[in-house]
Amino acid sequence: MSIYQELVESIVVNKKNRLMDFHPSLQLIGTGRSAFVFRIQSSNKAIKVFFPNFVYIAKEEAEIYLVLKDIHYFPRIYEAGTNYLVMDYVEGDTLFDCLTNGQLITDAHIKEIDYALSLASNAGLNPSDIHLRNILITPDDQVRLIDVARYRQQKDCRQWGDLKKAHRQFYQKHFFWKKVPSSFLNGVAYLYKKGLIPSYRL
Ligand SMILES: Nc1ncnc2c1ncn2[C@@H]1O[C@H](COP(=O)(O)OP(=O)(O)OP(=O)(O)O)[C@@H](O)[C@H]1O
Ligand SMILES: [Mg+2]
Repeated sequence: MSIYQELVESIVVNKKNRLMDFHPSLQLIGTGRSAFVFRIQSSNKAIKVFFPNFVYIAKEEAEIYLVLKDIHYFPRIYEAGTNYLVMDYVEGDTLFDCLTNGQLITDAHIKEIDYALSLASNAGLNPSDIHLRNILITPDDQVRLIDVARYRQQKDCRQWGDLKKAHRQFYQKHFFWKKVPSSFLNGVAYLYKKGLIPSYRL
């Protein structure tokens, strides 16, 4: 059994997908709709452990990361198990964090994210589910993309185009908040998903 597998086996999730226990050398760094993500303490590796009802995504996401392995904007994968992935830990803030803590998101960042996504498209993928929590800016101002599980879906995803539009139409205007309350962002995301924001329809 690999060391990673042992760490994964220490993680206890209950029937309601609540995290009950995990090894002390793991540090919870994120929770998504399908997985918990831990940093292995004092290392540059992260483990994404899928909720029991989403384990099938592990194989799909591992295969997609393989396609992206030469593109430095994406974490590299070190091991893939039935319910987990071991990948590079990305130090930095998600765009969601940047908005709430007032860290500037510049045009240069937007262009670099566009470029990273174009490389993924050129590799034959269809980048999808590109939202604020799946894009990070590192302390040395580099852009990184994570959570590629939906990059092989057929349907076109408009989220990134809409985020760029909102960056132009609102974020860059002088009246816009310098720090955006997280409750506001979550509320907008909710309405967006429901298709309730005119001219920002999914
Ligand atoms: N390699 C990583 N390095 C640093 N932080 C990460 C990494 N992978 C994930 N995270 C953090 O964990 C959170 C959840 O991870 P991820 O987006 O992969 O889960 P998910 O369940 O697929 O998410 P979603 O709800 O977008 O479908 C991310 O938003 C991010 O904050
Ligand atoms: Mg995510």
